Amino acid sequence: MKVFGHRGYSGMYPENTMLSFQKAADTGCYGIELDVQLTKDGQLVVIHDETIDRTTDGTGAVVDYTFEELRRFDASAIKGGTHGFQPIPSFEEYCEWVKERDLVTNIEIKSGVYYYEDIEEKTVEMVRRFGLTDRVLFSSFNHASLFRLQQLAPEIPRGALVEYVDLGNAGYYCERYGFQNYHPGVEWLTEENVKNCKAHGVGVNVWTVNDMGVLEKLYEWGCDGVFTNYPGVCKAWLDTR
Ligand code: G3P
Ligand code: CA
Repeated sequence: MKVFGHRGYSGMYPENTMLSFQKAADTGCYGIELDVQLTKDGQLVVIHDETIDRTTDGTGAVVDYTFEELRRFDASAIKGGTHGFQPIPSFEEYCEWVKERDLVTNIEIKSGVYYYEDIEEKTVEMVRRFGLTDRVLFSSFNHASLFRLQQLAPEIPRGALVEYVDLGNAGYYCERYGFQNYHPGVEWLTEENVKNCKAHGVGVNVWTVNDMGVLEKLYEWGCDGVFTNYPGVCKAWLDTR
């Protein structure tokens, strides 16, 4: 079962920072999950929320700041500032870092609130520039965004993020619409979904799995991967199987 560090090693380090990504990589996990948004001057940045209020010492929308302005805020504020100053990474900085590492990156396109102009084009261009196409997986709750990514980079697999609904025929849905993977929130996943995905050749990667009892259940159901805030703990548990 593949373990993705969700926003890096976000259970212990400030989420979506280079420190969090490095700490996840240190566990030997399979991959890293991160979220991309666009700044006022059209730069791809790695941050989960549309605003900087929850995770940094600043306030306001990401899209209202230039990249240079955003870099002044401290993303370690979410952990009480106890990990030294941690800037919001640019996606370019992340690509530069990951290109030499044996890691798969799940890039979640956050395009459900602002419908950022050309976010899919910019992300694909960056992935290609760093030669990462065979080590990347795209996901989004905005399935229209996934259709655009399919047009732009059909060779890169996609995962359909889903929450608040049990799709039942999840595998049928994903196969029909060209999504190689189903990415449900763990609360909304059933064993039937997993069986249906297997019947349709669709992978199942589940978020956010921080409980080892839940991990064991998903392992027994035959899920392909998990996104966890504690990649070191999940990896250690799976290594004993
Ligand atoms: O990609 C899995 C998970 O990250 C989706 O939800 O809100 O954590 O981005 P969220
Ligand atoms: Ca995410």
